[in-house]
Amino acid sequence: MELTNKILKLKKEKKAVILAHNYQRPEIQDIADYVGDSIELSRKAMNEKDAEIIVFSAVDFMAESAAILNPEKKVLLPTPGARCPMAQMLTVDEIKKWKAVYPLVPVVLYVNTLASTKAYADICCTSANALEVIESLNAETVLFGPDRNLAEYVQRKTGKTVIPIPEWGFCPTHLLFQPEDVQMLKLKYPDAVVMVHPECTFEMQETADFVGSTSQMCRYAKESNAKTFIVATEEGLLHRLGKDNPEKQFILAYEDAICPNMKLNTLDRLYMALKEEKYVVTVPEAIARNARKALERMFEITK
Ligand code: 13P
Ligand code: SF4
Repeated sequence: MELTNKILKLKKEKKAVILAHNYQRPEIQDIADYVGDSIELSRKAMNEKDAEIIVFSAVDFMAESAAILNPEKKVLLPTPGARCPMAQMLTVDEIKKWKAVYPLVPVVLYVNTLASTKAYADICCTSANALEVIESLNAETVLFGPDRNLAEYVQRKTGKTVIPIPEWGFCPTHLLFQPEDVQMLKLKYPDAVVMVHPECTFEMQETADFVGSTSQMCRYAKESNAKTFIVATEEGLLHRLGKDNPEKQFILAYEDAICPNMKLNTLDRLYMALKEEKYVVTVPEAIARNARKALERMFEITK
């Protein structure tokens, strides 16, 4: 039997649901029950009442959030080594250090963080709702980690003081995009619309017609009358963009913009994960309790 059919059969037998991030390989996106950005996938994980198993085809922090929100369900990450390097950049000690300096300032953590650090957050956010989350807080200064580019973006847009913790956090994949490449592409495609993820640098964001999360880019491209788009985010999104808009053209702003961690998940690993019910992601309740509060608070204020 073909691998795809084996996965579909197992999925049905085990009452499993497959959630895949927009950066997953095309064949994984095509087999998934749901493909989305981090907020959509967390929400989906929270509302999956009937499934007994959630296979989270993405990286560690996304599967951890699903486990925090669904303590009674089995959450599987197909590849245990699929870890977001940006999430590793913020430690509990770093948060404590900044909290000691600013004891009254709220801590806002990007979902791209480990559960152990989320336990110290007042609220979480994703790239789709960071502005909404910061604006909702009754505070003019916030501590924000770990992405410095997103922190600066939010500071510019809200006018609040957003202190990045650590001072240097970044996504290695989004750092690859350079404004010079966009300028070159614009010479070739003068009518192209430029979409940029807020994890890119300020200079890259300056080149954008639209800055947003991966799924926000999908919505923007669908609603736009433009026919050509230059896209500055991980290459996996181009599969979904092309599938949803076959009549439009999507060009990656830097052709090697690949997140090697996201790409660790393959159809073979997905199959083995379902078959052997591995690798189970668990978060100790002492950590999950506080982390859940920070995630739920984000859902409360996000439309
Ligand atoms: P999105 O929430 O925009 O999908 O981003 C997740 C991510 O890991 C970006 O690098
Ligand atoms: Fe982490 Fe960047 Fe990969 Fe997203 S693209 S999972 S932020 S390394």
